[in-house]
Amino acid sequence: MILITGGAGFIGANFVLDWLAQCDEPVVNLDKLTYAGNLESLSAVQADARHCFVHGDIGDGDLVTRLLNQHQPRAVVNFAAESHVDRSIHGPGDFIQTNIVGTYSLLESVRGYWSALPADQKTAFRFLHVSTDEVYGSLGKDEPAFTERHHIEPNSPYSASKAASDHLVRAWHHTYGLPVLTTNCSNNYGPYHFPEKLIPLLIVNSLAGKNLPVYGDGQQIRDWLYVKDHCSAIRRVLEAGRVGEIYNVGGWNEKANLEIVHTVCALLDEMRPRDDGRPYHEQITYVTDRPGHDRRYAIDARKLEQELGWKPAETFESGIRKTVQWYLANPDWVTHVQSGAYREWVQTQYADQ
Ligand code: NAD
Ligand code: DAU
Repeated sequence: MILITGGAGFIGANFVLDWLAQCDEPVVNLDKLTYAGNLESLSAVQADARHCFVHGDIGDGDLVTRLLNQHQPRAVVNFAAESHVDRSIHGPGDFIQTNIVGTYSLLESVRGYWSALPADQKTAFRFLHVSTDEVYGSLGKDEPAFTERHHIEPNSPYSASKAASDHLVRAWHHTYGLPVLTTNCSNNYGPYHFPEKLIPLLIVNSLAGKNLPVYGDGQQIRDWLYVKDHCSAIRRVLEAGRVGEIYNVGGWNEKANLEIVHTVCALLDEMRPRDDGRPYHEQITYVTDRPGHDRRYAIDARKLEQELGWKPAETFESGIRKTVQWYLANPDWVTHVQSGAYREWVQTQYADQ
């Protein structure tokens, strides 16, 4: 079996659902259930004996050690993190605690378990750390996309905390021999995405008749990947990645934010036209820019493609259409995640806009 952390979040929940749809290997899913963790995203596997949910913190060494010894996983996949850049600007403390101190604690628990495994299991064991392209910093308009050898130049408290965790993972391999793999992926989108992030926020705000907040000039560029393609990349790296290596994950889909906003508006005009017949793009509002806002991210995914034969299944056009359809088909999920905690965040972030 495998142990995954953060599996009630956006990518982790998609990973669990896809994993169990594709194989029978059981999953133990350790998640703290912060505001971003949502068991409703896992309702399809609630009664599935192959899925064991455990409520807890990656930083709780006793709990993690107990789980490892009890379930004897052949791999750990670490999704658990604080993941929202704007929240890290308002309050970096949780990011330092989970992303750095929590990853350190998890590495130590895993190292203790791994060290005591019989030789063959020790060789086969993997610790896969899920990271982000944001650790590489920001690119100029004409610079080549990030390769795995790009400088680490994080600019936000979130990306700095992820970069720190990547460094710890690397060091635990070089110093202790822990068989690690690291993936650095670009922006994901798709089902179960918490509506504080750009694409789901645009969908839910459009439908609610609210403003569509565009930071600054809206010309910042992100490289978008459908979440299920990120999950297939992680499965492939876990299966065949070379120990100690980093694999960048991306779909060659660079888009300016404003283009994303117009694409979502156009899909909603087609699938759920406004009652007054007017276009959704009339709801666009330019708001104060994010402090230190990275201008451009772009992933060079050739290593993963050429070495491991991975390819994304979705184009941006097919993935974004599926995403809008999913949100239209799942209004209850949206309503339930827009809890008190969500409303407080929206009040903090967009109060003056
Ligand atoms: P998310 O915020 O949606 O989910 C994070 C999950 O981790 C939540 O379920 C939360 O409850 C859990 N968690 C937080 N702190 C924890 C702790 N101390 N112990 C146990 N569980 C804890 O995040 P996501 O978007 O699903 O991202 C998952 C991972 O992928 C993160 O490491 C993130 O840095 C990375 N990543 C995300 C993206 C993206 O576009 N979302 C892209 C590249 C990499
Ligand atoms: O690149 C990978 C990263 O992508 C992940 O590591 C992070 O966990 C994930 O949150 C995401 O970070 P971003 O900051 O790129 O995503 P976000 O959805 O917050 O913002 C996308 C872009 O849209 C960014 O340039 C900021 C802008 N934006 C965002 C929001 C929420 C707006 O213009 N308006 C908004 O209201």
